[in-house]
Amino acid sequence: MSEEREMHVFDGIEEHDNPPPTWFNLLFIGTIVWGIGYLILMPGIGPGLLGWSQNKQYDAEVASAKERFAKAAPATIDLAAAMNDPLVVADGKKIFASSCAACHGPEAKGAIGPNLTDAEWLYGGTAEEIVHTVTKGAPKGMPAWESQLGAANITKVAAFVHSLGGGL
Ligand code: HEC
Repeated sequence: MSEEREMHVFDGIEEHDNPPPTWFNLLFIGTIVWGIGYLILMPGIGPGLLGWSQNKQYDAEVASAKERFAKAAPATIDLAAAMNDPLVVADGKKIFASSCAACHGPEAKGAIGPNLTDAEWLYGGTAEEIVHTVTKGAPKGMPAWESQLGAANITKVAAFVHSLGGGL
């Protein structure tokens, strides 16, 4: 050791006072400055100068997701167009298999719920009336599907039901 530093000796053990390197001190002071800056800008001691909050960020992300989703899957679709589009009717068939077949049977020929393939209708057999029944439900055990499926899916499944042969 070239320069003489303060030294402490105890029990034959020499203890030198080695100052920490400059880079370490800068890093150490830097974390304190960063921490104070963070507490001032972000919610910490107070609400934070930047005005950022979890709720605001969440709302912004939900809004942008809704916007993107609305373009990918419109909330409503045109009934007449749906009935004439085999792809949409095929979509309706899938919805029927997962949401309706349990009560109306896999072929829609009736089980707990009535046969939907004949021209006998309790609540009307036009596509509009089927949409209405599925949306609002019917008193003797037919659930309302409005909130669960949404208007676009109800239009699809109604177009499928209407195509089964009983549609008026
Ligand atoms: C929990 C059993 C159940 C499920 C699931 C169900 N239905 Fe029904 N549905 C019924 C019953 C029971 C009726 C008869 C209601 C009445 O007479 O008031 C009915 C009636 C109907 C009618 C009216 C038939 C007519 O003669 O006017 C239509 C249309 C219909 N359902 C379509 C659907 C579609 C489409 C789905 C799937 C989205 C579906 N149902 C799911 C039980 C069910």
